[in-house]
Amino acid sequence: MKILVTGGTGYIGSHTVVELLNAGFEVVIVDDLSNSKADIAIAIERITGTKPLLEVFDLTDKVKTADFFKRHRDLKGVIHFAAKKAVGESVEKPLLYYRNNLESLMNVLEGMVDNNIRNFVFSSSCTVYGQPDELPVSESAPIKKAESPYGNTKQISEEIIYDTVKVTDLKAIALRYFNPIGAHESALIGELPLGVPDNLLPYITQTAIGIRKKLRVFGDDYNTPDGTAIRDYIHVVDLAKAHVVAVQRMIEGKMKKDFEVFNLGTGNGYSVMDVIKSFEKVTGLKLNYEIVGRREGDVEQVWADPSFSNKELGWKAEKGLDEMVSSAWRWEKAYRGSQPPQP
Ligand code: NAD
Ligand code: WQD
Repeated sequence: MKILVTGGTGYIGSHTVVELLNAGFEVVIVDDLSNSKADIAIAIERITGTKPLLEVFDLTDKVKTADFFKRHRDLKGVIHFAAKKAVGESVEKPLLYYRNNLESLMNVLEGMVDNNIRNFVFSSSCTVYGQPDELPVSESAPIKKAESPYGNTKQISEEIIYDTVKVTDLKAIALRYFNPIGAHESALIGELPLGVPDNLLPYITQTAIGIRKKLRVFGDDYNTPDGTAIRDYIHVVDLAKAHVVAVQRMIEGKMKKDFEVFNLGTGNGYSVMDVIKSFEKVTGLKLNYEIVGRREGDVEQVWADPSFSNKELGWKAEKGLDEMVSSAWRWEKAYRGSQPPQP
């Protein structure tokens, strides 16, 4: 049972490769290493005892992607993580984002259709809901106009997949992730943001370890209990496990429709201050932070209604906030310990 994991050396991809190998799948990774390192394949081998095959190329290269699929006609499915994901950068460089995220998707879909590979899992995002009218947000909530070119690539991607499924034998599952955080319990893989992190958790752990001076909390005047914005943080290992379930569902012919969409969240909303307090509690450290103005484009509060995924997939996120935060901290310490000192 061979599965292609595009973006498999990245943050969520690497955790998913571990879960796929643990479940007995054979894995081939394609990644251009634009936001990850080849060493991750070795870390995966240390965790699972199996080194996944890694092919390094850019999936926007149509010829190389077509050649890859011709050589791997026996694939049982594809999980497509490969994409650029920095919201702010996408505003600065929209064409880079549209080209990278949409061309790679279309090349992969074409390779699958041409070689009769039918099962496709796509990394979508809760960003498609914008600020939902009702909370918690379920899969049937309306899609709001995207706040960024990045968010727009996710909306357009879902449409491209939908249109392709309608006229081919392809079957697809789009998984809309809420806010993935944390790291594998081994601390051998985790989130590795290049440069200054945009996301909350890596900013917190980098501040605590001394790489950043101070966390800026973006806004304490939201209409929430403590005034800071609320998100549905989900442990990356819980998220990874849902991909294995999705792939099995497709292979076992259990899908109810040819294109299904699932929320991957816990159903719990936590504020920025809740995350900071959890971090201080589990580490015993005092975090240096200050409240500043709101960040442009941020929604006030969003959390998932995971009941459809819980019921249909038979999957449920199990790990709580403290475990997410402490695993992220273990990873930060292990990773920095393995690197040469910063200048
Ligand atoms: P990541 O950057 O760690 O992983 C993505 C991987 O794809 C990287 O290893 C990168 O080198 C690779 N890649 C990018 N463009 C490529 C291309 N053209 N050809 C080959 N490889 C390419 O990101 P992640 O956090 O693991 O995210 C994985 C997926 O999940 C992305 O599609 C992202 O948009 C989506 N997502 C992420 C989050 C999040 O908060 N991390 C939330 C919702 C959705
Ligand atoms: C979480 C909360 C910030 C950093 C982004 C993308 C979204 C999805 C997940 C891919 C917010 C606050 C953050 C900081 C802070 N990715 N914050 N200080 O914005 O929910 O979602 O990642 O699909 O598309 O937009 O996640 O981790 O950036 O922020 O106060 O230095 O933490 O304002 O309330 P976000 P995040």
